Amino acid sequence: MPSNRLEQFFGFTSFGESHGAAMGLLIDSPTPNLDFPYAALRDALNRRKIHTPFKTSREETDDYEILSGVFEGKTTGMPLCIIVRNRDIRSSDYEAIRNLFRPGHADFAWFQKFGIYDFRGGGRASGRETLVRVIAASFTDEVIQPIQISTSCLQIGTMRCETTSDTHDNPFHWQDSSSLDDLYSYLQQSKDRGESLGGIIRLTASRVPAGLGDPVYEKLSANIAKAMLSIPSVKGINFGDGFALASMQGSEANDQISSQGFLSNHQGGINGGVSNGNDIVFDLIIRPIPSVSTPQRTIDREGKDHWIEVHGRHDSCHIPRLIPVAEAMLKLCLADAIQHQRLIQGKATDLVSFRESLDKIDEDLLLLLYRRRQIVQQVKEYKLKHQLPNHDPIREQQIISRAQELAKELDIDPNIVSQIIQLVLNSSQ
Ligand SMILES: Cc1cc2nc3c(=O)[nH]c(=O)nc-3n(C[C@H](O)[C@H](O)[C@H](O)COP(=O)(O)O)c2cc1C
Repeated sequence: MPSNRLEQFFGFTSFGESHGAAMGLLIDSPTPNLDFPYAALRDALNRRKIHTPFKTSREETDDYEILSGVFEGKTTGMPLCIIVRNRDIRSSDYEAIRNLFRPGHADFAWFQKFGIYDFRGGGRASGRETLVRVIAASFTDEVIQPIQISTSCLQIGTMRCETTSDTHDNPFHWQDSSSLDDLYSYLQQSKDRGESLGGIIRLTASRVPAGLGDPVYEKLSANIAKAMLSIPSVKGINFGDGFALASMQGSEANDQISSQGFLSNHQGGINGGVSNGNDIVFDLIIRPIPSVSTPQRTIDREGKDHWIEVHGRHDSCHIPRLIPVAEAMLKLCLADAIQHQRLIQGKATDLVSFRESLDKIDEDLLLLLYRRRQIVQQVKEYKLKHQLPNHDPIREQQIISRAQELAKELDIDPNIVSQIIQLVLNSSQ
């Protein structure tokens, strides 16, 4: 049977094909009384939609609809169903190649298994399926606090990122600003040839408590690996120093422990299937996407030889869109392990944990205010340089109205929200 269910504490069943009516997920028995994560969900969907010149030209709004399981902004504990309608479909792109198996795609293998497959946009094997993973993970943000997840790109095609400590304020999470232009021209040249590029990304989860995971068949590392390898186009994973561990001596590969903590992190934060409190670090090997317009050999359903060129709308490098998906899968794995650990320790609802969460939110609020003030300062300098008026009452009103709208969605008093926003605006002046 095709497996469409992620068996976890935050488990869900998903459905939908790239060119079908909608993508969606059903969370069978969600925790009741959870605040529906409107803001986290919107953020997550926007991150996945990220724009680069190397992204598919298919433009989906990704507006979601809640079909069931939410009442007055909270989960009811009943089946929670969310869908995202597919709107920008152009199935005619696939008519010319409907009987040909596209090399590197699931077409041939799935036809062997099921005797039928939806050739339009990759059907269920499409990268579009990953949308639901991002939706599901937005329910875990609170549970996994204070864990922080970040991603950096180590390699695209044959180009390696030589430093990992510089800025990563770009869709590729490329941390070497001095070679960013070279990266973009390398990607453009590949796209111009009708080709695609993959690469290697590194995920890091920091502030992970020790003790998550299980010793034998439910090792945290094994569950993370399975989750990552279930993402289309992810072909490999290695933890910590990965392949380099093979050529190290035991004493080099060990992470020695002192009273201050671990002295290194060669193992990637997991020993014996359980998190050790070090950062969880692993690399993903991502193949180049299979749709390329260069001519390739294939066969049709009768087994006859053909040449095929795959045109249509495709990512020529999908790594920026895969990063939020990989992070979402990691969040789901960690949330699962945390919930299990809480059940084991019987502290699912203690006051200390609640207070820890509140303290974290208050700290985040202050950090956001600080960051806002910094950006406002840059805006002021920009306006001064371009001789623009400093005060913009129309924009201020727009900001307040937007916040009021979101407040209504979140079931918060819009008047209070407008007062808060006004204070924020004043304090940034
Ligand atoms: C976010 C994302 C976007 C993707 N976009 C495309 C695409 O535009 N065109 C394409 O041929 N494959 C794309 N893929 C990859 C295919 O879905 C995948 O390579 C194919 O289904 C075969 O699966 P496999 O590579 O895991 O064997 C994308 C994957 C992800 C995760």
